[in-house]
Amino acid sequence: MKRDDSAGDMPQGGKGRSSFSGRLGYVLAVAGSAVGLGNIWRFPYLAAKYGGGIFLLVYLILMLTFGYALIVSETALGRMTRRSPVGAFGTFGNGGLFRFGGWINAVIPMLIVPYYSVIGGWVTKYLFEYLRGSTAALAEEAYFPEFIADTSSVLWFLLFSLAVAAVLFAGVKQGVERVSKVMMPLLVLLAVFVALYSMTRPGAWEGVKYFLVPNFQHFSWMTVVAAMGQMFYSLSIAMGILYTYGSYMKKEVDIESSTKQVEVFDTAIAMLAGLMVIPAVFAFSGGDPNTLQAGPSLMFITIPKVFASMGFGTAAGIMFFLLVLLAALTSAISLAESGVSTFEDQFGWSRRRSTVLMGAIILLFGAASALGFGVWDFVTLLGMSILDFFDFLTNSLMMPVAALATCLLVTRVAGLDRIIKEVEQSSEFKRKRMYCFFMKYMAPVCIVIILFSSIASVLGWISI
Ligand code: PFF
Repeated sequence: MKRDDSAGDMPQGGKGRSSFSGRLGYVLAVAGSAVGLGNIWRFPYLAAKYGGGIFLLVYLILMLTFGYALIVSETALGRMTRRSPVGAFGTFGNGGLFRFGGWINAVIPMLIVPYYSVIGGWVTKYLFEYLRGSTAALAEEAYFPEFIADTSSVLWFLLFSLAVAAVLFAGVKQGVERVSKVMMPLLVLLAVFVALYSMTRPGAWEGVKYFLVPNFQHFSWMTVVAAMGQMFYSLSIAMGILYTYGSYMKKEVDIESSTKQVEVFDTAIAMLAGLMVIPAVFAFSGGDPNTLQAGPSLMFITIPKVFASMGFGTAAGIMFFLLVLLAALTSAISLAESGVSTFEDQFGWSRRRSTVLMGAIILLFGAASALGFGVWDFVTLLGMSILDFFDFLTNSLMMPVAALATCLLVTRVAGLDRIIKEVEQSSEFKRKRMYCFFMKYMAPVCIVIILFSSIASVLGWISI
């Protein structure tokens, strides 16, 4: 018999479908998947690059409206059908469009986890170097570009991926999840400490202002495109994950308030990371526009400078990169596990075979992404490095399509009434009118505009 769909840290049941113990269990599991490199590494560099305060404002508006409606939809569809995305779409029909809708949601995590593991490898390397006491060397401007340009950096990616694969093979996900629950509060504490330190450096206040105060002159279309991609990424929306989590949610758990809690927690961590990194750019590089545009390397360039300048910097570096590594590992495991269970469920494959295929995908695309900064740096896809290309492909192109598929499934096929009924099984649907408005009108229009902007920017029709 085919096993039911399941994601990484899902409670595995004996007979029938198991479920989370209650709201707290659900919120912790979703927050565990949501908080990862997206919050600590990706959010600050996007905020720095796309306008600071204006990016934050657009992000918050999108999250509270559009993101909220999509999380509620995906969770309710998962709980209603008791299936993860391919199965959930399949419940409503088996035409090509339904299959496309399910699969695009299911394929996205498979394309994210390879390059996610490359960044995980960088974090591992930094942890190793802090353990060796290389605090001053890491703070040098040239360290990071030289490191990623060196082919040996691929080894760190391999090490990280091996750890992910080992956990998938051994199936000790729950242990990892338990560790991450202890680590998460520690990460918050350390982040508060580092953010306070970073914000109080001379010259850092300009950075705090840049990050928190919206300046409309910094607004561009790409601010909206990047903020929407980041919102999907950070909250694990439009990648099938929330369908699966919803499918394990008990009927009495309040979908609205758990959504709110996850959003608050995830955003708080992202903002803390912004307050660690962006003021440091101003304090240590004088707000240099080139550093602000640094992109994926930003965290690896600025945070070591903060640590090198403070007492007990090596200890802080070890703690910080250890905690980031754990957050990255748990997220990577949950992304990869979602791929593995899709193979198991849809093709009826064994766990071993599914894990091997997932491992091969990680190796292939991950190694290419890592080498794209070194020996393959002549390879550009649509003008981007290989890693940036995968990030763009998943976040700016595929996720809007996946989100549109969910919108259409809700409004055209399942019907808003069924979703409302599902939510109302556990509580009154307080933001019902806003939800309906968003799903019917705003979300599809926003998604289509964003999708076209992404394509137009790649084709050079609009400037970034
Ligand atoms: N939301 C995670 C992050 O911000 O790093 C990325 C992610 C992890 C997405 C796990 C999906 C997932 F299953």
